[in-house]
Amino acid sequence: MDLQLTGKTALVTGASRGIGLEITRALAAEGVRVAAGARTVTPELAALPGVTAITADLATPAGAAALVDQAAAALGEFDVLVNNVGGVVPASMRAAGFLDIDDESWQRTFELNLFGTVRVTRGALPSLLRRRGVIINISSIGARAAFPPVDYGTAKAALTNLSKALAEEFGGRGVRALTVSPGPTRTRNWSDPGGYAGDLARAEGADLDRFLAEVPARMGITTGRLTEPAETAALVTFLASPLAGNLNGADYLADGGVLKTV
Ligand SMILES: NC(=O)c1ccc[n+]([C@@H]2O[C@H](COP(=O)([O-])OP(=O)(O)OC[C@H]3O[C@@H](n4cnc5c(N)ncnc54)[C@H](OP(=O)(O)O)[C@@H]3O)[C@@H](O)[C@H]2O)c1
Repeated sequence: MDLQLTGKTALVTGASRGIGLEITRALAAEGVRVAAGARTVTPELAALPGVTAITADLATPAGAAALVDQAAAALGEFDVLVNNVGGVVPASMRAAGFLDIDDESWQRTFELNLFGTVRVTRGALPSLLRRRGVIINISSIGARAAFPPVDYGTAKAALTNLSKALAEEFGGRGVRALTVSPGPTRTRNWSDPGGYAGDLARAEGADLDRFLAEVPARMGITTGRLTEPAETAALVTFLASPLAGNLNGADYLADGGVLKTV
């Protein structure tokens, strides 16, 4: 299938590893010129042909502005914006529950998962409007269900709402906005002993490999396995394509069946 993406341009945030790296790889493989933002440039990102890696801290207003400026300088205009940056901040990862999450953690979580995306989107929208482009926000199943930590799920719920609002406000002017909501995905958050799963495994006194083997059953992943980052990237790439040109405002789960509600 020709996704008709050759020669288009994309800005991807949180692109140095995990899902963002795979989205960058998949778009570049379709002939898209990609500007890829993160605080660090990993060897895997630097090795991708046709990709301009840009360092910026998206948890700050200045970082978001600098990323959009440098990406515009590299690409000219934006056809695709993938707001992938996000995650659970360390203090919230360790929190026992709502009462254990202080103002600073809430603030950091919202900077990382919502405000960075608000700022990058505001900066890129004039160009996306000129190009009748597409915005894809990477949210989480935590936006739709009460998985801890609560600050993360709340920020992702706001992000999902943002996509819908953008779809409504700009859809009539040719800009589509969509959400992709991953469930447990095999990135360092799960596979690295220092990540989210490693912390949970340690708290239970369990070995990480054994803990991971039990995750599908414990989380109700119907397929029996975690999602691979490249699988989510393939979905994002299709949604970015003109072939998906009348898909707007929808939220696509990429969770192996964790969420049971329709
Ligand atoms: N993995 C999952 O199971 C899962 C499930 C549901 C939703 N998600 C969502 O999917 C997205 C990607 O998750 P992932 O697991 O691939 O994450 P990841 O492996 O932790 O990668 C996060 C990316 O964001 C960058 N980043 C982090 N903080 C940043 C900052 N302040 N400024 C700029 N870049 C920053 C990181 O690079 P630097 O550290 O170099 O900056 C990295 O490239 C996130 O929005 C996450 O919430 C993931």
